[in-house]
Amino acid sequence: MTMRAALCSSYGPVDEVLSVVEDAPRPTFDPAGKASRGYALVRVQATALAPGDVRVLSGRTAEIQGPPSLPYVPGGADLCGVVEAVADGETYLKVGDNVVSQFDRNWGGLAEYALAKSSQCARNPPAGLSPAEVAATASSGASAVVISRHVKRGDRVLVIGGSGGVGTFLVQLARAKGASYVAAVSTQTELMAELGADKSIDYREEDVWASSEFQAEAGKFDVVFDLVEKGWDRVTSKGGRAKPIVKTGWRGGRFVTTVPPCGKWFDGHSMWQVVRVFMLPVLGKIIGTSLWPWGRPRYKFVFGLGIDAKRTQFAELFALIEAGDVRVVLDGGRPRPFTTEEVRAAFKLQESGHAHGKVVVQPLAGVKLPRGLLMLTLGEAFNQPLDRVEFSNGLQMPALGRFFDQSLCEVNLPGGLQQLAFGRGFNQPISDVVWPQGASKNHFQPRV
Ligand SMILES: NC(=O)c1ccc[n+]([C@@H]2O[C@H](COP(=O)([O-])OP(=O)(O)OC[C@H]3O[C@@H](n4cnc5c(N)ncnc54)[C@H](OP(=O)(O)O)[C@@H]3O)[C@@H](O)[C@H]2O)c1
Repeated sequence: MTMRAALCSSYGPVDEVLSVVEDAPRPTFDPAGKASRGYALVRVQATALAPGDVRVLSGRTAEIQGPPSLPYVPGGADLCGVVEAVADGETYLKVGDNVVSQFDRNWGGLAEYALAKSSQCARNPPAGLSPAEVAATASSGASAVVISRHVKRGDRVLVIGGSGGVGTFLVQLARAKGASYVAAVSTQTELMAELGADKSIDYREEDVWASSEFQAEAGKFDVVFDLVEKGWDRVTSKGGRAKPIVKTGWRGGRFVTTVPPCGKWFDGHSMWQVVRVFMLPVLGKIIGTSLWPWGRPRYKFVFGLGIDAKRTQFAELFALIEAGDVRVVLDGGRPRPFTTEEVRAAFKLQESGHAHGKVVVQPLAGVKLPRGLLMLTLGEAFNQPLDRVEFSNGLQMPALGRFFDQSLCEVNLPGGLQQLAFGRGFNQPISDVVWPQGASKNHFQPRV
């Protein structure tokens, strides 16, 4: 069985190695088989990218974090989808469940079907979110929840990289956790203000580390979150410029980062290399600043964590989303269609380090249909039901509103058209729908 999927022929530059193909092999799933135990087969609605996906594609961590073989389907398993099959003995997931899955690896997600680890899935994401928004909550939202546990009520907080996949959640979570003041650094000053930052600093115009406002005793931060740089250099006593704006560990100051001291795009070709350039420096700084908290803030590193057994990260995040305290930000305001061009652009944007919100691709937007069946899937839907869709050829038909809450709605269409299916929402004009196999809208002409 085949499926539509992004496929990387080897590691290397996206333009040379990555394409969307129609005949990638579907993941094999044998409910009674050992290899499927603990996994579910998911029909993917939307997949969110993360910096780790770019790292894997580059081949820089091939020996420790790469896919089992080449070619491979890129994209992690940060996805939203509907469970198609579960392994024998599965107790949490059921066929038909709407799930969000967090990565347990950095491949396999950019396809119509993917294997999701049951323990990394959470059921029933907020009904008001589109599939793309749900996918965006996966590792970034859940990680931001874990990271935000370092915020205490009344803290003064600085988020460096507030406009990224993790940062857009973190700025809002810091606010929701009762921070008394939130400053965010990025070029996206308006977005930062919209998400609740009291002050937005454009790093091209102002150097936050040199700010006299923050160097004043009352302006120092309790906690700095660094999502961008290898921030440790900022806080070492030798020339570290962060010291003046962050409280010392002795006074409760924390420097919390997700970026290891060796940098964001480190090479990891053996476990020993990872231990030497990544783990040992991180451990050294954690221990060093705990034992000697007087001159600088305590250093905390947040590892990419899986979902905890009770799925508390998602429960916490979803509750805040449902209460309207946190919203999901998608780069460009919408998911990207599932074409070679768009998927390459998505990877390049993620690699640039300048995505604003989550970069999400929508494998379901172009559905391959059995011969003779004519179907249209309206990608991402929205909370508000569509009540009418107009096609470019003048044909009009009633829209079916939300549909991914399971059943595909079937209607008899005028002119011999056979079937129309609606995704959950839509945030782009119908003319932007990506058709299967590059077919144009003309394929939707009535065939009598
Ligand atoms: N440990 C974990 O659990 C975990 C989980 C997820 C992610 N991560 C890591 O966390 C880091 C952030 O991930 P992400 O997904 O949020 O990254 P991202 O989506 O690539 O976002 C980076 C953001 O930083 C901004 N930025 C770039 N240079 C900046 C600078 N000099 N100062 C301030 N802002 C700057 C960019 O916006 P501009 O265009 O304004 O520059 C962009 O919005 C990555 O290293 C990732 O690997 C860790």
